[in-house]
Amino acid sequence: MPVRKTTDFCLRLLASLIKAVSINRVWIEENKVCKCRRWWARPLILVGNPVLACRQVPVRVLFTKQWIRWERKIKRALDGQNVPAGSVLVCNQVPGVPLADWLRESDESKKGRIEVLKVAVDALKVFHRVEIDHDDGDKILLSHGDATLNNILYDSHSGSMQWIDFDLRHWLNVPAAQRHADDLRAFLFSTARHLSEPEIPDFLAFMQQQYDDPKVWSCLQSQLSSYWFRWDVFHQAQIQRGRSSNDSKQVDKQKLTLLESLICA
Ligand SMILES: Nc1ncnc2c1ncn2[C@@H]1O[C@H](COP(=O)(O)OP(=O)(O)OP(=O)(O)O)[C@@H](O)[C@H]1O
Ligand SMILES: [Mg+2]
Repeated sequence: MPVRKTTDFCLRLLASLIKAVSINRVWIEENKVCKCRRWWARPLILVGNPVLACRQVPVRVLFTKQWIRWERKIKRALDGQNVPAGSVLVCNQVPGVPLADWLRESDESKKGRIEVLKVAVDALKVFHRVEIDHDDGDKILLSHGDATLNNILYDSHSGSMQWIDFDLRHWLNVPAAQRHADDLRAFLFSTARHLSEPEIPDFLAFMQQQYDDPKVWSCLQSQLSSYWFRWDVFHQAQIQRGRSSNDSKQVDKQKLTLLESLICA
């Protein structure tokens, strides 16, 4: 088997493993969401983080103490919420469902769905403007690290959007434009499969207009056109995670290739 095919196969296999494993247990208790690590999470994080560090925009899964500290900081910065310290995350339950689920299940018109996606772009922009204290005392702009449509909750009654799930974090010494570009990548690639092929160019054009930071777009272009992008196992895992059993792999691939070529054009 040619080397390229073998490496692609191995990458896909590794991505499937990352996708399939859920290192957290999440449950709801009296309007509070509780989340804790499974007992075997630590060795897995130890093995997985070096792989995630090899990305062009490195991310890492935070160990429990660091993760809770980070969530507390973010929740305080986002809505003033006081999350208790401890080894289990206990935070307010936000109304709504993951946007990816809503898009999959709702019978909303195409136009209505795109309007909702536009609100999500706004929510990402607002999130990226939040400043947070870095450990060395400096303030830095926030980035998500796993900004797919699975990690934004949408409440169709109020129209509100709320980002959740902060146990995976970009390396904070990476410039904000690169971290934000990586969030745009996750957001766009998880959105594409919910659009038809002809809708993708319009949505991208809208997004470029709405998220008008040329530095971020140029970082995204260089990330996607880099040789190393095809080795980005985390990107592959995010793509695989968003795919539902009803999606045709072939159509999905066409949409993602179209998106990639439009961004890099
Ligand atoms: N604050 C919240 N309010 C309401 N529901 C929440 C909240 N946090 C998490 N959930 C629900 O729990 C699910 C899993 O939460 P989260 O994404 O934080 O955990 P995870 O272990 O990282 O899961 P995954 O691996 O699927 O991303 C979310 O998809 C959402 O449905
Ligand atoms: Mg999640």
